[in-house]
Amino acid sequence: MINHEIKIAFDEYDSLKDLDTADYDLCLEAATALKNSHSPYSKFRVGAALRLHSGRIIYGSNQENVAYPSGLCAERVALFYWGANHPDDPVEAMAVTAQTDEFMLSKPVTSCGSCLQVLAEVEKKQDKPIKIILYAGQGPVWVIKGIENQLPFLFFEERLTT
Ligand code: THU
Repeated sequence: MINHEIKIAFDEYDSLKDLDTADYDLCLEAATALKNSHSPYSKFRVGAALRLHSGRIIYGSNQENVAYPSGLCAERVALFYWGANHPDDPVEAMAVTAQTDEFMLSKPVTSCGSCLQVLAEVEKKQDKPIKIILYAGQGPVWVIKGIENQLPFLFFEERLTT
């Protein structure tokens, strides 16, 4: 028997003000994106903003539907928009924020497994890791470099593509 251990790492900042200007600005863009959240069912608003290599910002927010599974998370709305419209302009960073009137969010909201799997595919497609910046309200900010620090056991079956 061999016991394997995998380490993942992320940086925690006390507040948005501790980020560099580009990342701070991207967090504000995520808050702007969140305003278009359509979440009458969960009442949980999520906003995502991508900063592309060119400087272009892509916005995404969670879009729910009365037929529940038909909705989509903010991250995938933004990432699929990128794939459909700007696939040759690499994604450098993605900021994600969330709000709800139902309870207090005291720490960042981390992305669901499906969003992480999609993020992995974008990294693979552009052959560059993406910096993820997560924050909620006045709480700490988490900065995570690349999918390998979020989903080390992601599905990548190379034989599917050969
Ligand atoms: N949601 C996101 O937008 N991103 C995530 O990573 C997790 C959850 C959305 C989906 C749904 O509209 C609401 O938050 C509650 O789950």
